[in-house]
Amino acid sequence: MSIEHIRRFIAQDMGVVDEVIRQKLHSHVALIRQVSEYIINSGGKRLRPALVVLSAGSFGYTGQHHFTLAAVVEFIHTATLLHDDVVDESEMRRNKETANALFGNAASVLVGDFLYSRAFQMMVEVDNMRVMQVLADATNTIAEGEVLQLLNCRDPDVNEENYLRVIRFKTAKLFEAASRLGAILGNASPEHEKAMAIYGMHLGTAFQLIDDVLDYSGDHQDTGKNLGDDLAEGKPTLPLIHAIRTGNAEQADLIREAIKNGGIDDLKPVLEIIHTTGALDYTKKCALGEIEIALSAIACLPDSEYKRCLTQLADFSVTRNH
Ligand code: IPE
Ligand code: IPE
Ligand code: MG
Ligand code: MG
Repeated sequence: MSIEHIRRFIAQDMGVVDEVIRQKLHSHVALIRQVSEYIINSGGKRLRPALVVLSAGSFGYTGQHHFTLAAVVEFIHTATLLHDDVVDESEMRRNKETANALFGNAASVLVGDFLYSRAFQMMVEVDNMRVMQVLADATNTIAEGEVLQLLNCRDPDVNEENYLRVIRFKTAKLFEAASRLGAILGNASPEHEKAMAIYGMHLGTAFQLIDDVLDYSGDHQDTGKNLGDDLAEGKPTLPLIHAIRTGNAEQADLIREAIKNGGIDDLKPVLEIIHTTGALDYTKKCALGEIEIALSAIACLPDSEYKRCLTQLADFSVTRNH
């Protein structure tokens, strides 16, 4: 069983979601269409919308709102990516030039704003106060996470706790919202809604932990992104934090300096230290711990093919190479 199995199981629903995405990208302003279609059509795993669909299915929801909300979370995700690539000065995403590299920073930021606000127009259509609450809170928390991360950049004193806070905010919160939304639509019990929220939060944390591993160890053709982007920005991610903590004085100093200075001139020695200190294995172990929590949270859900897919999605998020 694999991610392909999940894709097949929800293919029809995800087809509808893609149709909603296409329709809702419409704008009379040509540049908006150009930039938003560029990034949306360049692919992406569509994990967050899949979570909405799987969660709604788990609770027997039979309406149409999950299609809209799945598109909403993908729009919010896409907006954060447009902004994130400007902030991170990234040049590659989804195996293509980033929108900022191609259209410039201003266009990326403004079209990101368009996608956020379009997402808000769409969620209002669903006309459910709980849904709006969850999505408004998640969007706000993501912004806090990105700003917190900005403050942490080039700071070698950031510890594991500070780091975890950033990734829970910037990444896991949207996974949490996506998982919770299906439960809300399906009128799940408060316990089940909470279980889905916990599942999403820990799944999202694991997902970002692995993203941070792949930034040092992935194959750029698989990830579709440039390796070493995090070091270039002086981001103190867990692999570096662990290397500082467990390396000898000389190794710790080298990593600390690399974080302070940013840039990838030191990528080679940094990679060596990451390997000798087992920093990537440690980070993967943390991701596995998060997945265990995610899976035990949904153990209480009634058995279904949807639930099995949620389990597989959790496995995928820690074994993935893209
Ligand atoms: C990238 O997310 C940003 C992170 C939270 C690590 P994804 O890896 O889900 O991006 P796409 O949508 O599949 O390209
Ligand atoms: C995730 O962090 C960014 C957001 C949640 C917006 P990264 O900066 O690690 O994501 P990538 O690696 O650029 O996709
Ligand atoms: Mg980035
Ligand atoms: Mg990354």
